[in-house]
Amino acid sequence: MVIKIAVIPGDGIGPEVVREGLKVLEAVAGPTGLKYELTHYDFGGDRYLATGEVLPEGALEELRGFDAIYLGAVGHPDVAPGVIEKGLLLGIRFGLDQYVNLRPIKLYPGVWTPIKDKGPEEIDFIVVRENTEDMYIGTGGFMHYGTPDEVATQVAMYSRKGTERIIRYAFELARKRNKAKKLTMVDKSNVLTFGHDLWVRTFEAVAAEYPDIQKDHAYVDATCMWMVKNPEWFDVIVTTNMFGDIITDLGAMIQGGMGIAASGNINPTGTSMFEPIHGSAPKYAGQNVANPLASICALSMLLEHVGETEAAARIERAITDILGSGKIPDLSAGECPPTSEIGEMVAKAVS
Ligand code: NAD
Ligand code: IPM
Ligand code: MN
Repeated sequence: MVIKIAVIPGDGIGPEVVREGLKVLEAVAGPTGLKYELTHYDFGGDRYLATGEVLPEGALEELRGFDAIYLGAVGHPDVAPGVIEKGLLLGIRFGLDQYVNLRPIKLYPGVWTPIKDKGPEEIDFIVVRENTEDMYIGTGGFMHYGTPDEVATQVAMYSRKGTERIIRYAFELARKRNKAKKLTMVDKSNVLTFGHDLWVRTFEAVAAEYPDIQKDHAYVDATCMWMVKNPEWFDVIVTTNMFGDIITDLGAMIQGGMGIAASGNINPTGTSMFEPIHGSAPKYAGQNVANPLASICALSMLLEHVGETEAAARIERAITDILGSGKIPDLSAGECPPTSEIGEMVAKAVS
């Protein structure tokens, strides 16, 4: 089977990190016999500035025809915040109903973590972030815009169906991971007594179907504390869209930084999209200093998702070996080896 992949490099450092991911893809194809076909899309800030289009007519329909989407990052300094982020990224996540945002927090051996006395044994969990609801739906408005009497609203929406499907996905994942078999639901039900009450009730109902999984609960503020103090307490976390966004940047830092944190936007029955969790980091764009490992890890998640488990495992092993050997002691931009060199290291190791 030929895997059809749509490639959206996007803005800022996006094209640079995706280029390295594609180098690794080419390198891993040889020994594994993996066959793939790439279709590049120039969606992003520059195209928007030139044409006024974010996600062109028919694009979603076209993207549905691929086995997976590989995205770099979006966000352009000359475009108002939100235009590309909402129009393109959320446009695809919502449009293709990629309702799971899977974000592994895994400290590889040889990588520095700011948490004293914790290592790869203690930092290895996965965040299942709901990806199509919450404050991200874009409902709200202004009254008395720009005046001293201005009022703004931003609506958070949670549906029973949307909540149930993400919680069920997380229970299944805890079972499949077969580690601590523990699922922690993270919310703010002590304050958000409507929306997060729905989450609590749904969690209880779905948990009854999974007696083999230990159910656990934490408020989001305390979760930030536990993630730093006792990251080993977590196996799988399920949480709302907004909280999932926030706690995974914290998660990225305890696993060595934004340069290694990857994610998958999953529609279990449709087309999924894989990307680093970082943004376009404009200040590092075009300098060959960004770390492409997050993008390469996202590629590994993509391959795993489409059933190319051997290729995914090879990439995973290569990254583990390279980091374990201490070749990249600092993963941050400018401190790590040049973007292209890291890509070449991984490409060499997988081939
Ligand atoms: P950012 O993730 O782009 O950058 C924040 C910091 O993270 C950088 O200054 C850098 O220190 C570090 N970093 C990011 N990528 C790195 C890499 N590959 N290697 C090493 N270090 C890395 O976040 P921001 O500055 O808040 O946002 C910049 C733009 O990106 C904005 O337009 C924002 O909306 C957008 N954004 C897009 C996505 C996405 O495409 N998924 C995610 C977050 C932010
Ligand atoms: C992420 C980003 C996006 C989000 C933005 C750019 C829409 O921060 O992928 O984490 O909030 O989901
Ligand atoms: Mn984010």
